[in-house]
Amino acid sequence: MKKIPKRIGILTGGGDCPGLNAVIRAVVKTAVNDYGMAIVGFLDGFEGLVENKFVDLTSDSVSGILTRGGTILGASNKADPFNYRMLEGGKYIYRDRSDQALKTFEEHGLEALISIGGDGTMVVTNKLAQKNIPVVGIPKTIDNDLYGTDVTFGFDSALTTATEAIDKIHTTAQSHHRVMVIEVMGRYAGWLALCSGISGGGDIILIPELAYDINCICEKIKQRKYHSRYFSILVVGEGAKPKGGDVVVMKTVDGSPEPIRLGGVGHKVASEIEEKIEVETRVTILGHLLRGGIPTPADRLLATRYGFAAVQQVADRNFGQMVALRGNEIVTVPIVEVAGKTRTIPPDSPLIALARSVGTCLGDSL
Ligand code: F6P
Repeated sequence: MKKIPKRIGILTGGGDCPGLNAVIRAVVKTAVNDYGMAIVGFLDGFEGLVENKFVDLTSDSVSGILTRGGTILGASNKADPFNYRMLEGGKYIYRDRSDQALKTFEEHGLEALISIGGDGTMVVTNKLAQKNIPVVGIPKTIDNDLYGTDVTFGFDSALTTATEAIDKIHTTAQSHHRVMVIEVMGRYAGWLALCSGISGGGDIILIPELAYDINCICEKIKQRKYHSRYFSILVVGEGAKPKGGDVVVMKTVDGSPEPIRLGGVGHKVASEIEEKIEVETRVTILGHLLRGGIPTPADRLLATRYGFAAVQQVADRNFGQMVALRGNEIVTVPIVEVAGKTRTIPPDSPLIALARSVGTCLGDSL
């Protein structure tokens, strides 16, 4: 018979999102109630594992956090144990500190690590698995771009926030006869832009998967005017790019598993529109607003299902796996198959087809 682990660690890596606390709560409660496990929570993602920053998590310490945004453990999308930023001699240098991470894990007498995060986190988690740390992953990100799962938790909450924002911008767009450009996060995948654009009734939606032609966009705006619709709503994913052009990079973050931060394409598109046609534009960048707030009921449920399933994998010693959603079933996927891949919107996605059918311009044709 398999020996059920008695002490496990947990951390939240990458950018935060609504639902992280719901997962932490589900993991701790399931681990304690069903298996009598002790849980060590590492602080600030992998930084906690390298620097031995931790808290002991109990049923009491996770009580009341289900609905709370953010993560009680803190998060970091910079701390990579394999390329760890350190100040030496007044200068920042990068060192492989993964042996220190392993040492911390062993010193706590842990038998498993539950790692909650997006693709950057899964890349690091996979490398830790190769150093013989028994890991189980849980897929998180507002971008919904993690390979191997249909949905990541956090996405539904960000979608809700984006849609509410688009609804509000709609009314002022109408009053002032303006083109309102709304930029949403999502990195190189257009899930957030496409889904919020469809839900919010965007007239033009630009996603990274379909390079845009500014002339198509302007033509759509002119056609709407011709049909007495004097305003237009344009939703753009931060990773969108023009035909033959490139993404707009806002900054690079040294030491991050994915150093490039996108942002600014909304302003680029808006000024291109104003250069070409007689119309007033305004830009709203939703940015980190999309990562804040309380999780939606769908995210609370998904986060709780993932947390519960992850502890079951630990109890079964089914390591090196990420829990995932396929259809409505929770399944497991080897992390090695997930790490380093991005799940973008496929060209034949029914969402793309339906957006076109309801008259949305996707920037590549009218
Ligand atoms: O991956 C989540 C995400 O919010 C992306 O949508 C966005 O590009 C990025 O993180 C922003 O990262 P940071 O918090 O470092 O600005």
